[in-house]
Amino acid sequence: IKVKDAFFVKSASKMEETTPEGMSEVAFIGRSNVGKSSIINALTNKKGLAKSSSTPGKTRLINFFQIVLAKDEKTYHMQLVDLPGFGYARVSHSLKEEWQKNLTTYIQKRVSIRTFVHLIDSRHPFLEIDQAVHTYLQEIVRADQHILRIFTKLDKLKQSEISVIKKNYPCALLVSSSSKKGIDKALEAIFETLFG
Ligand code: GTP
Ligand code: MG
Repeated sequence: IKVKDAFFVKSASKMEETTPEGMSEVAFIGRSNVGKSSIINALTNKKGLAKSSSTPGKTRLINFFQIVLAKDEKTYHMQLVDLPGFGYARVSHSLKEEWQKNLTTYIQKRVSIRTFVHLIDSRHPFLEIDQAVHTYLQEIVRADQHILRIFTKLDKLKQSEISVIKKNYPCALLVSSSSKKGIDKALEAIFETLFG
């Protein structure tokens, strides 16, 4: 699979501002700072396409990116959607609730979502919040949708820690957006859920 083109389309703060339904969509979900924006840059091989930061709470809107892929001389289009993380954002409680509502509406009502990519920091593979997110996604997922679990920041792990994750999550994908390890495999897995 080759990424032929990747570009920013639009940011939305709520459902009414999202792009028209239609193109198959991949939504990246996970805690603040887990590496949602970074993996979009790694998958598209475009640094700075999605804004990342070492300070949690960087992504505050629903950001749509359009991707053009080529495989076996065929062209495929999809949208990658960078979402605000859950966790730290230093904003008022009422604003946080407002976001949560808008995010939940997008996740549950958006018809175009084909795949939820749930990102988990591989240094903390067993957090309760991630188990809760996984359970939540399983509850809301439609028959035409997939859930992929991807463990990020693989470059920070020792081999023994990698083994623990593989043992507990046999289907898990492990990636490093910094070293690009596992990124091709992740792109293929995402592609399969959409067009396979
Ligand atoms: P929010 O937008 O706040 O929800 O965060 P995010 O999930 O989009 O995380 P982001 O991509 O902004 O990355 C957060 C920090 O982790 C940045 O400092 C990144 O450089 C770093 N980071 C992301 N992926 C990796 C990785 O694979 N390895 C390492 N070592 N650092 C990473
Ligand atoms: Mg982000």
